[in-house]
Amino acid sequence: MDFTGAHILSIEQFQRQDIETLFRTADAMEPYAQRKKMTRVLEGAILGNMFFEASTRTRISFGSAFNLLGGEVRESVGAESSSLVKGESLRDTARVLSGYSDIICMRHPQAGSVAEFASASRVPVINGGDGSNEHPSQALLDLYTIQRELMTRGRSIDGVRIAMIGDLKYGRTVHSLSKLLCLFRNVKVVLVSPSELAMPETYVASLRDAGHQVVVTDQLEANISSVDIVYSTRIQEERFQDRQQADLYRGRFRLNQAIYTRHCEPNTVIMHPLPRDSRAEANELDADLDSNPNLAIFRQADNGLIVRMALFALILDVAHLVDKYAQDVRWFNHRSRS
Ligand code: CP
Repeated sequence: MDFTGAHILSIEQFQRQDIETLFRTADAMEPYAQRKKMTRVLEGAILGNMFFEASTRTRISFGSAFNLLGGEVRESVGAESSSLVKGESLRDTARVLSGYSDIICMRHPQAGSVAEFASASRVPVINGGDGSNEHPSQALLDLYTIQRELMTRGRSIDGVRIAMIGDLKYGRTVHSLSKLLCLFRNVKVVLVSPSELAMPETYVASLRDAGHQVVVTDQLEANISSVDIVYSTRIQEERFQDRQQADLYRGRFRLNQAIYTRHCEPNTVIMHPLPRDSRAEANELDADLDSNPNLAIFRQADNGLIVRMALFALILDVAHLVDKYAQDVRWFNHRSRS
């Protein structure tokens, strides 16, 4: 694909060589993301960060990524504080906001909404999550994390064995990640969920069409013993018509250190797109795993900054200029010591 000026709406846009280009660019962003160096290649550019649904990581990391490349960020947070509540259409909103911005990131609770918005936008739009449909930038940072974690174990993404656990019906991150894994070879995917929250058949079929081994199960402990990655997810209570229905599934698939020690191979990587639900009745990823060196969830979140910087640099066609305009940082930076 040609990144320049592209909307990023779905993982289906990507080929394997695009992933390689993105990850190479992401590697080059690391010193800037860690504030060891700075660059101003997006000076004068404005990101419209439109989040019509709750977010911590995606909104802040997109905004920070743009700032770290020298650009400015304007935000709208919550549908109730935008004129969507007055009946303005997504298409009119897009026409207006794309006059104020050079690129837009958007999250919205309805599947397909970001694509509809993008169809009327005059600037590139990145999907920050549209309902239970897709979350492409999350899948890209997840895969980047998988690659980095496996590399330290002398492995690559081809041949990876991954268990996706939890709400696979409404969890958009696992939908996008499944599509992305179809670009790789010889993958084993174990899908652990209550049958009511199983991965939609279309994603399962795509994984099988890609030649991957797929196991569908509602049993956790017996199915995490032969995988390289356990990718836990939260029950997406906000997608249930009756939120009390979510109570039936919360806490069903808990991973803690005792279960990990008993059932997982010693170097199994633990991932989660976050937020993890730390309420006692949920607790799908126990805090007693926090001292486990294989817990990659915060490295995963950090990688979000790097991958999102790479997306901006490629879409706005400045990736080749980032180092040329590098400067030293002048403030005390604890990361410079590492
Ligand atoms: N992973 C993720 O999308 O987190 P937020 O909902 O906090 O953005």
